[in-house]
Amino acid sequence: MSGWRTLLDELGLKRNMTYETIVTTISKDRDFNVAPMGVIRMKGERLKIRVYKDTETYRNMVLTREAVINLTFKVEDFYSSIYEKERFTGERFTDSLTVNSPRLRNADAYIEVQLEEVKNVDQERSDCIFKVKFVEAVKTMPRALCRCDYAVIESLIHLTRIPVYLERGEKGKAEELIYLINHYRGIVERICPGGKHSEVMRKIASKLEGFKVEGKS
Ligand SMILES: Cc1cc2nc3c(=O)[nH]c(=O)nc-3n(C[C@H](O)[C@H](O)[C@H](O)COP(=O)(O)O)c2cc1C
Repeated sequence: MSGWRTLLDELGLKRNMTYETIVTTISKDRDFNVAPMGVIRMKGERLKIRVYKDTETYRNMVLTREAVINLTFKVEDFYSSIYEKERFTGERFTDSLTVNSPRLRNADAYIEVQLEEVKNVDQERSDCIFKVKFVEAVKTMPRALCRCDYAVIESLIHLTRIPVYLERGEKGKAEELIYLINHYRGIVERICPGGKHSEVMRKIASKLEGFKVEGKS
């Protein structure tokens, strides 16, 4: 049995559940990359990411056989790690202990992982299965539950899917996601006005304007 079981438990990672994280990787030219990725805890203390093959994260992980899974609640980092990658300059990273991929500074916990297996899912996606090499958690105060965290994360995931549906000609599905984002924006404006969440939601909403479909609201 892997010695990391207790620490993964303490981080609250339960088997067969997906957790939204920010994954940091390193390219063959030693450039760092950040991207939000859903991580699933499997049996045998393995972790799985179902990843689109056209992402930089996938290319880096397959090439270097490693990554760092950063646990954080910072919704602004989830947004920036897709749409404002230029914000992740050198000082946003720190060294890892067991891999060359960096850690994202100020995350709540770091899971350094080694790629063990890549399983093809379909033309677009693969399952990357990782073995844990090192886990470190930063001491943080308890966090109060806030609906806005989830509203922003849901909206961001939807936002990344809209261009995919539009490219496939599935306009109805894209419109549905735009409707949902507008719904979440309403929640955030009502219960978390004027903070980080509403700032990110404003950026998400302005991205919607670039799509050639009308949002139903
Ligand atoms: C919360 C969240 C979770 C995500 N999870 C995944 C995932 O599990 N697999 C995936 O391929 N893309 C996922 N995405 C989309 C990628 O983050 C997005 O495609 C990103 O632009 C990839 O960046 P990269 O090309 O630098 O790797 C997720 C996005 C968000 C907002």
